[in-house]
Amino acid sequence: MAPILSGKRIILGISGGIAAYKSVTLASRFTQANALVDVIMTHSAAKFVAPVTFQSITQRSVATDTFEFWHDAGRLRIGHVALAHAADLFIIAPATAHTIARLALGLSDDLLSITALSYKGPMLLAPAMETNMWTHPATMHNVQTLRDWGVDFIGPAEGRLASGEVGEGRVAEPEEIFEVACKVIGRGGPLDGLRVLITAGGTREPIDPVRFMGNHSTGKMGAALARAARDLGAETVLVHAPLAVHPPGGVTLVPVHTAHQMYGAVMERLPKTDVLIGAAAVADYRPTDSADRKLKKSPKQQIITLERTPDILQTVGERREETRRHPRLVIGFAAETNDLEANAVDKLTKKNLDLIVLNDVTAPDSGFAVDTNRVTLFERDGSREAWPLMSKDEVAQAIMQRVVARLGRRNWKRPRQPSQVDEP
Ligand code: CTP
Repeated sequence: MAPILSGKRIILGISGGIAAYKSVTLASRFTQANALVDVIMTHSAAKFVAPVTFQSITQRSVATDTFEFWHDAGRLRIGHVALAHAADLFIIAPATAHTIARLALGLSDDLLSITALSYKGPMLLAPAMETNMWTHPATMHNVQTLRDWGVDFIGPAEGRLASGEVGEGRVAEPEEIFEVACKVIGRGGPLDGLRVLITAGGTREPIDPVRFMGNHSTGKMGAALARAARDLGAETVLVHAPLAVHPPGGVTLVPVHTAHQMYGAVMERLPKTDVLIGAAAVADYRPTDSADRKLKKSPKQQIITLERTPDILQTVGERREETRRHPRLVIGFAAETNDLEANAVDKLTKKNLDLIVLNDVTAPDSGFAVDTNRVTLFERDGSREAWPLMSKDEVAQAIMQRVVARLGRRNWKRPRQPSQVDEP
């Protein structure tokens, strides 16, 4: 679930391309997230997918005609004006070369373009076209014009196109568009301008080219934390070992495999990190010698000697006195099976953390590979707070609210000037 979208009004513009069918899934995704989705279709889009499809999904009327009137707060208002004024986000998916060109020229010859011209908020375009159309200087110029005005783009991706050819021009997948939409709408939120780095997943320590030492972590909790940080406007980095879940969109992904690689990736970014959250299950040991050829079985016992890996949070904790401002907040996780509280408090102190989140990995509804978590938070001042069973998304959102409070951002107001638009 993405609470950032709940109650938000989204205009979903559909222009004429075969990729229009994918926007049905997108409309459904937004509707399930409790957003109010007003679909505007161009006449050619309505040839690919019937408006009634979107109407059924969104349970709202679908607009195609410039001369429609809408009921708004008891008044009859001109359709495009009412829609544009009410919307929190304007998405066009698919955005054809022709639609992009019309927006860049400021044309207003149909409902989609006239509404876009009347609209002042954040806008996200998902282009879809043949490769030659996308790479044409005219399209590139139009895209740049729109970017300069603060419009965000997602895609296009490489893949099979309507013509049967393979190349750049395929519309981004609905899930990616959904994720980036959350980021765009969350921009200017209470963590705006702050950099949050999260580690996630279970590291893999190679034994030989085909085997590794690993653990049961799926990365669900870390991915949920990254989404929650992104939705509050943070510039979010996810340093992740292999994940068993889809990585979140709209965050910078730094894939790694081993504890050493994770350590290097975190340390490199530390001077620019405001909040560090260690949700990864980092291997404490690695095989001393990783064979460069596949080990063959033999009747004899096989002994693997192990050596220690660096402790990322411990190192950060030790250096905090030197790097006073960065990170301003360090949060760890303690996945325990026994002596839960004692172990968590011990790690909080030893690693010089501000907060530690304890979970009992032997409980059937908490820990690895499940969607829920029952956690207890321990702070440096000795306070502790046991939270009820929640989904990992809810735990992540609650932890990020704690971050907002700790950084004094609770009453934070969006700056009057919109912040610099990121590359999608
Ligand atoms: N952690 C880390 N680097 C390591 C090991 C752990 O940054 N090499 C972080 C984890 O991401 C987590 C916290 O430290 O936030 C606690 O990890 P955990 O595996 O529970 O504990 P360990 O410190 O490894 O101690 P032990 O395995 O003895 O319980």
